[in-house]
Amino acid sequence: MVQLPIYLDNHATTRVDPRVVEAMLPYFSAVYGNPGSATHDFGGAAKDAVEDARSSIAEAIGAQAKEIVFTSGATESNNLALRGIAERAAVTASKKASHRRHIISAATEHPAVLDTLAHLARRGCEITRLPVIPSPDTQAGLIRLEQLTDALRDDTVLVSIMLANNEIGVIQPLAEIAKLCKKSGVLLHCDATQAVGKIPVDVEQLGVDLMSFTAHKIYGPKGVGALYVRSRGPRVRLEPQIDGGGQEAGRRSGTLNVPGIVGFARAVEICREELFTEMPRLAALRNRLYAGLTSGLAEVTLNGPALDLPDLRLPGNVNVSFGYVEGEAIMLEMRDVAVSTGSACTSALPEPSHVLRGLGMSEDAVRGSIRFGLGRFTTGEEIEFVIARAVEVVTRLRTMSSG
Ligand SMILES: Cc1ncc(COP(=O)(O)O)c(C=O)c1O
Repeated sequence: MVQLPIYLDNHATTRVDPRVVEAMLPYFSAVYGNPGSATHDFGGAAKDAVEDARSSIAEAIGAQAKEIVFTSGATESNNLALRGIAERAAVTASKKASHRRHIISAATEHPAVLDTLAHLARRGCEITRLPVIPSPDTQAGLIRLEQLTDALRDDTVLVSIMLANNEIGVIQPLAEIAKLCKKSGVLLHCDATQAVGKIPVDVEQLGVDLMSFTAHKIYGPKGVGALYVRSRGPRVRLEPQIDGGGQEAGRRSGTLNVPGIVGFARAVEICREELFTEMPRLAALRNRLYAGLTSGLAEVTLNGPALDLPDLRLPGNVNVSFGYVEGEAIMLEMRDVAVSTGSACTSALPEPSHVLRGLGMSEDAVRGSIRFGLGRFTTGEEIEFVIARAVEVVTRLRTMSSG
């Protein structure tokens, strides 16, 4: 018997792994010092735990410990990267003749990037949002490298492209994007929030200069994330966005979330150990889900890139549109299965998903969409239940609307 409700919204957040909870527990009441307290062992023990966590997270992504800045999550990391670089360019401009204020990103980025760019646009930056390959296409959702090349200018200061999309799971060719940026002397930021822990991610292989990620998408706690900031080739400098006690080498002040950071490192470590068994397991479950939906129902279309191109799509992601029904109606009728119609961060707003719109989909197809996010705790039995439930609910809703 499957236990209800079933959680298939792992792009929004994930359940904290019990092994992560276990690692965190001592850091609430046994090792509770402030890592900034250099004068006693309480502080020293907390600092040691933070530095061990920093080294282990850095190693997992091919970085050096000093290149990791802990934050409150990927939203803050994205803000620090984009505002920090744009403001740094403005600050140094007073000493130099030219002022780079052009930033390139994509139309399908997360609001934590898009809204930060809108903020920067109000303060004089010029923003180019690249379109993506429309649906249906095996490469739907990818940016076109020729368009990036054309968009790069002498005054471009930064390119910000996500590694994996939170709605359609499309994986952008960051290594190739990095080559283009490097050739033009432009910094590259990557929002890797949905990718770290789900697919191999190495900052050197990708060639990124800044990279955001967060613990709660990888079975770690909420409220802790990191920004990777390259220290060499080039050394990236950014303006801090939170001033105060000078923690994180002055790049992000505030007392560190020690239990969160310890949990973050444990979460990264578990993902690393299990990555190569988990990726094919999730892809097989995801493919079974899609096959079950398309064999049980007519008019089901895949949104985003092909499922059989593993380099192009996150293994745990499938996003489909059901013809003649609304995603909202499906969710209301399918209360025992937690899914989503767009990104959780924007679900307070009635606006249809900007990512699906970015794929050039019709309003009906956007409204009929459901995002399924499979994760570590998803089982084959759950997938069979979800297929049967979705087929039943969609069939009933279609009969009601036609009758
Ligand atoms: C791609 C992407 N970037 C950024 C974020 C924001 O992360 P956080 O919740 O850690 O602030 C999310 C979470 O929804 C995301 O999916």
